[in-house]
Amino acid sequence: MTETSAPSAERVRIYEVGPRDGLQNEARPISLATKLRYLELLADAGLREIEATSFVAPTAIPQLADADELMASLPRRSGVRYPVLVPNVRGLARAEAAAVDAIAVFTAASDAFTIRNIRMTVAESLDAFAPVLARAGELGWWRRGYVSTAFGDPYTGAVEPAAAVDVARRLLELGVDEVCFGDTIGVGVPPQVRELTARAVDAGIPLERIAYHFHDTRGTALANVAAAMSAGIRAFDASTGGTGGCPYAPGAAGNLATEDLVYLLDAIGLQHGVSLEALLVAARFIADALGRPLATKVGQAGGWDPRTGLATGRG
Ligand code: COA
Ligand code: ZN
Repeated sequence: MTETSAPSAERVRIYEVGPRDGLQNEARPISLATKLRYLELLADAGLREIEATSFVAPTAIPQLADADELMASLPRRSGVRYPVLVPNVRGLARAEAAAVDAIAVFTAASDAFTIRNIRMTVAESLDAFAPVLARAGELGWWRRGYVSTAFGDPYTGAVEPAAAVDVARRLLELGVDEVCFGDTIGVGVPPQVRELTARAVDAGIPLERIAYHFHDTRGTALANVAAAMSAGIRAFDASTGGTGGCPYAPGAAGNLATEDLVYLLDAIGLQHGVSLEALLVAARFIADALGRPLATKVGQAGGWDPRTGLATGRG
């Protein structure tokens, strides 16, 4: 795997969400040691942006109630960014105490989901984020803003692209470095991805400040990645082991699996810095910790070596 620090149109950023989005909805308690080992294996695999946990109300997300301890004990690797979710100033204070230097705030393109998820309307959430993002900016932290339900809301249905673009613009005005459009319930399809991207660009949002977070709930995630790439997007979220989903979005199973994404990017010949074999070690590790078989496509089939015709990385 060749590493290059120069930005390239052919290089793709993979933003790993397994430790946060992947684990947040799991009922089985996962020990701090297991989480730390998972994070270590993900970094070993070459991932350079790993969303580690959430500084949210422990009553909302009990699985991540150990966020303070986790970030205090996580050995930071140089060159690896470990963003954490922060919903309000309380979360920011916790993040500051834990020596975090990258955060993600999270709202959505629709009120119904946002109210259930963070008990605020979209407009209220943006007001709540303003001081959070301002303070994080003073501290020199990297800042991301999620726009969930960008293609559909589990309570009210279809979402207009204009609504998602509007929220993204507001987040950028508040100082985020990147906006991430989330297909929270996995209902978006390629023409919608192209349309949303085009509208965002028309609204003045630079392509390099847009990431996508696709869910493979209905098997459309990689088709959506391909559509976004053809529109010039080079940053994608994925969860090693394919775990995850938001507890406040019924039917939101199935983050795009990082191993499925990496396999595709390797086969196309795009650089991303991640070793599929090492990633499969992390995927198997977390599947074991969760007590179930690794159910992702590439997790089951392995990679493929065109020189031998044989599967790779099956452990
Ligand atoms: N960290 C820790 N505790 C927090 C907190 C934070 N960032 N923000 C609020 N709390 C605590 C409050 O102290 C209060 O505790 P108490 O009942 O013991 O007094 C309780 O949580 C409720 O606080 P309140 O300010 O009334 O918040 P709320 O009930 O309106 O909930 C959120 C708002 C945003 C804090 C909560 O909905 C939340 O954390 N949601 C996160 C959901 C999530 O992570 N979803 C997955 C991502 S897609
Ligand atoms: Zn997700």
